[in-house]
Amino acid sequence: MLTKDEFAQRRARLLKRLADQPHSAVAIIPGAQLATRSRDTEFPFRQDSDFLYLTGFNEPDAVLVLAPESEMPVQLYCQPSDPHEEVWHGRRLGVALAVAELGVDVAHAIDDLDDHLLPLLDGVHTVMIDHSKAEWLAHVQDLSDSLRQSRKKGQQAPRAYVDIAPWLHEWRLQKSAAELEVMREAARITVGAHKRAMRFAAPGRYEYQVAAELHHEFAVNGASAPAYGTICGGGENACILHYTENHSQLCDGDLLLIDAGAEFQGYAADITRTFPVNGKFSETQRQLYEVVLRAQEAAFATLKPGSHLQRAHKAAAKEITKGLIELGILQGDVNEHVDQASHRRFFIHGLGHWLGLDVHDVGDYQQDDKRTLFKPGMVLTVEPGIYIPADAKDVEAKWRGIGIRIEDDVIITEAGYENMTAAVPKTVAEIEAWMQTN
Ligand code: GLY
Ligand code: MN
Ligand code: MN
Repeated sequence: MLTKDEFAQRRARLLKRLADQPHSAVAIIPGAQLATRSRDTEFPFRQDSDFLYLTGFNEPDAVLVLAPESEMPVQLYCQPSDPHEEVWHGRRLGVALAVAELGVDVAHAIDDLDDHLLPLLDGVHTVMIDHSKAEWLAHVQDLSDSLRQSRKKGQQAPRAYVDIAPWLHEWRLQKSAAELEVMREAARITVGAHKRAMRFAAPGRYEYQVAAELHHEFAVNGASAPAYGTICGGGENACILHYTENHSQLCDGDLLLIDAGAEFQGYAADITRTFPVNGKFSETQRQLYEVVLRAQEAAFATLKPGSHLQRAHKAAAKEITKGLIELGILQGDVNEHVDQASHRRFFIHGLGHWLGLDVHDVGDYQQDDKRTLFKPGMVLTVEPGIYIPADAKDVEAKWRGIGIRIEDDVIITEAGYENMTAAVPKTVAEIEAWMQTN
């Protein structure tokens, strides 16, 4: 659980950065709004991750404003208490409690946002706002236009609108001790769900039934939702990277690829395991599986502060190339295939991604030519895979229609790395033993 202090420290860091700009600046950070699912029914609410990072506040229709030159520099705009609305749609923190509960300087009703923003925008040089939130950017620019039109009264519109996302996203990349604790819990819940799903899977069951096992385990452990669309792909469905239909029946002799993760207190886990539906790898499946496993181990061996994701990716790609040659799926010289990046036909995605409030978390992987170097507290996935499409006519038939991915979530530490999700059975022997004791 993150403390109120931690959110306050993040806002203080942002305020300082604003105050340190060469010109006056305010920051506007809108939260998320409810989205219509159908007619008068909404999708479950998910707070905007940047807003959540700065406030911990999980209600729709809220905006954070930071104005370093104001007497009240940290301002929250939120839904006011309203007994009638709350009976229908749920409790609100309300304006009166927001200051004490969230530690902001002042809170106002969201409907009063524009009235308060106008004087803050008047005369300020720079507005920092996320440029991907086009409607908010347009709204603030419209407000500014109204200032421009009343210049005669001495009002002055902002001169610049600068994207705030790079600042926040660089900060979000390195997790605090408290964030890591929450992420370990998201990982722990997800580990339990994968172990349960592995034992549940059997010939004749359906992919959606396996997904339901995972989702039940998430929910009873207090996870708010899956962090992304759960993938349960039996047989050749595993070759579709983001397969979420999950409607097929599981077949004896096939592999099942499960890629699923819980979201706990806003933070995602993201685990993949691939295992035999009937609990026993065929020789063909085992051989290909162990190539992916060796690739993951090779990637792990590179993880430490000062290294980078591309180095880990290359280590995995080389291991996959070697393995594909050994199995006769590629022919020729290892080094030539490495140079030609031949693995890309079968290992068709990157090795991993940052993980945090978003499953594909924010933060640069490189800037210009410079790779982002690992630092303690960064969290990433390591997820090599091999996918041999069913229609790969030039590949020996026994390999076709097999998709394998193995994915774990790791924290970069001073000493190297910590694998938060290692407890899901992963070697052939571990998986077979786990599935046998049903
Ligand atoms: N679950 C999506 C991914 O592994 O990137
Ligand atoms: Mn992933
Ligand atoms: Mn995944």
